[in-house]
Amino acid sequence: MTHHAPLPGPRGLLNSLRARVLLAVLVWVGLGIGGIWFSATRVFTKHIEEQYHEELDVHVRELAGLVKIGPGEHIELTRPLSDPRYLVPLSGFYWQVSVDRGMILRSASMTRGALDEDVAHGPVIVHRLDNGPTGPAITYGLIRKSPSGRDIHFVIATDQRLLDETIARFTRELTLWLLALAVALVATGVFIVVFGFRPLDRLAQATSRLRAGTTARLDGHYPVEIAPLVDDLNAYIAHNTAIVDRARVQAGNLAHALRTPLAVITDEAERLAQDRGTSAPAAVLLEQTRLMAQQIEYQLARARSAAGSGAPGAISRLSDVLAPILSAMRRLHPDKRFDLVNHAGPEAAWPVDPVDLSELLSNLIDNAGKWSESRVQLVIGEDGSVRVIDDGPGLAVGDIARAFEIGSRFDPGKPGSGLGLAIAHDIATAYGLSLTLENRPSPAHGLVVQLRARGPTDP
Ligand SMILES: Nc1ncnc2c1ncn2[C@@H]1O[C@H](COP(=O)(O)OP(=O)(O)OP(=O)(O)O)[C@@H](O)[C@H]1O
Ligand SMILES: [Mg+2]
Repeated sequence: MTHHAPLPGPRGLLNSLRARVLLAVLVWVGLGIGGIWFSATRVFTKHIEEQYHEELDVHVRELAGLVKIGPGEHIELTRPLSDPRYLVPLSGFYWQVSVDRGMILRSASMTRGALDEDVAHGPVIVHRLDNGPTGPAITYGLIRKSPSGRDIHFVIATDQRLLDETIARFTRELTLWLLALAVALVATGVFIVVFGFRPLDRLAQATSRLRAGTTARLDGHYPVEIAPLVDDLNAYIAHNTAIVDRARVQAGNLAHALRTPLAVITDEAERLAQDRGTSAPAAVLLEQTRLMAQQIEYQLARARSAAGSGAPGAISRLSDVLAPILSAMRRLHPDKRFDLVNHAGPEAAWPVDPVDLSELLSNLIDNAGKWSESRVQLVIGEDGSVRVIDDGPGLAVGDIARAFEIGSRFDPGKPGSGLGLAIAHDIATAYGLSLTLENRPSPAHGLVVQLRARGPTDP
């Protein structure tokens, strides 16, 4: 009764609602966090660059305002620039003022190198990326005319590295925060999936309880989304049970109603058989009525059985069912010994209606009692399987194959109607159990009848 789930392949994985929702959460979180990361770094970079350029713009103007041009194009600063970084050697902040083919002033920070004065083209500030004393630098320049008409170049440079470092620091910090946020979101997603799908787990458990026969309907409370489905299923199960019950009652009634007329016909045929002139057709009548009676008994037995009713919820303890059967059999076959060995413990039970299980087992044990020489053994295996072993003649191989057919009898020496095994097999099949016949291996003789749960390899 084990169900083998297929191994989850790539398609099998998407076959799971949980996997689907989890995948959706991952994609969603990935897109969201990725989108935030991309736009935040973009906005920050743009903002910080603008701020940088504005600052340098102000510095060029300040520089131009601070330079005093004396006679003979002698230039000097009236006071240092307000930003102290121009005083720290190789700080990355530099300025330079130069007179066309004349005097050059440089910031204290510029202990080496020179700035290209050509950056300054005219009275409007221009900027470009240039080589500074300490690597690539964002360079700003502007030209003013001296009183004598010569060009004076004002140039300010800031290392590109400083801007890049600020942006990199921000990006690093932002990435860490967003990663932590992503982890928290995915964890929440997993929680949502587990929490949200719990009712489906309960439904699966209720279904297996229904299948195992411990309940007759899908029990439990379910969320509004699946409650209608569960209600519909329960209504369907109830409806089905009612239909099958009705059919069983009708079949039983019909078989029962036919019994009396059949008995009358049989009586009449027996009377005719006494008469020489009608004995031949009477024999035909008798044989046919015997067959009819056999069918009627069989159908009545089936109608009695709860097996086909699909009414789940039954459970029978083997020891409870076997005790009365054994005492009846000991009275029925007083010259035979009946032994019971239980390896499964007193609690061993089958999800089968007790009346059905009793009918099934008594047919098997009765046969063993009828055909055994002296002893019948009943063995309940650890897995709950039941074996009925006798020490009789056993069956020919060809007979084993036909033994479950209605009316099959191979030993006219013993009484019987050939229905016992057919009914037992019917009940077993209805409950999904496997019933098999097998001769005992020689030198022992006799038949082994085994009843067990249908394994995955059974036909
Ligand atoms: N334990 C057994 N040993 C030998 N033969 C058996 C055994 N059980 C069944 N058989 C054979 O299988 C036939 C069918 O068995 P089944 O129980 O269906 O019918 P029956 O016992 O003859 O009649 P009924 O059970 O209806 O009273 C029997 O007639 C008998 O020939
Ligand atoms: Mg029998």
